[in-house]
Amino acid sequence: MICYEKMLKSHVPQIAQLEKQCFSDPWSEKSIASELENSLSLWLVALQGDLVVGYVGSQSVLGEADMMNIAVDQAYRRQGIGKNLVLQLVEKLKEQGVHSLSLEVRQSNAPAISLYEEMGFQQVGLRPCYYRNPKENAMIFRKEWTV
Ligand SMILES: CC(C)(COP(=O)(O)OP(=O)(O)OC[C@H]1O[C@@H](n2cnc3c(N)ncnc32)[C@H](O)[C@@H]1OP(=O)(O)O)[C@@H](O)C(=O)NCCC(=O)NCCS
Repeated sequence: MICYEKMLKSHVPQIAQLEKQCFSDPWSEKSIASELENSLSLWLVALQGDLVVGYVGSQSVLGEADMMNIAVDQAYRRQGIGKNLVLQLVEKLKEQGVHSLSLEVRQSNAPAISLYEEMGFQQVGLRPCYYRNPKENAMIFRKEWTV
């Protein structure tokens, strides 16, 4: 069974490993750990026992949240974990009085774009050449709700 919890210090090394597996420009262990000290940040993990199989990270300012990253271990994909991470994040953000969640995604990232569209996010913009390694446009998605 997969459990969804707030990120703890003990999860950070495994998250950093997944970052390296999933992204060409990964967050370092140090920058992930510093999120634990940031009162604006909310990170959740998907756990199978002690194993981190997915995570999502966000920061909120004045009722608006940004999703900074989300990833699911390759061996655990297409089982609803990514979707549940976003659902859990939205529930927790609502409890904090947050009313919107925005994110950037590479234009070629079809799996992630499908996930966001299925969850009711709408494209609200495009940032040309936002990403490096390789250079690529970012699509900006946003979802709003009433609190
Ligand atoms: C994007 C990602 C987090 C999705 O995680 P996941 O746990 O596999 O997603 P889910 O199983 O919850 O998928 C939910 C829905 O999203 C869509 N989706 C997910 N992966 C898909 C794929 N490879 N192709 C098409 N649609 C996909 C489907 O609609 C899916 O529903 P379905 O399985 O009932 O068809 C995962 O692919 C990942 O970690 N990718 C690498 C990191 C990354 O690109 N992160 C996004 C940065 S913006």
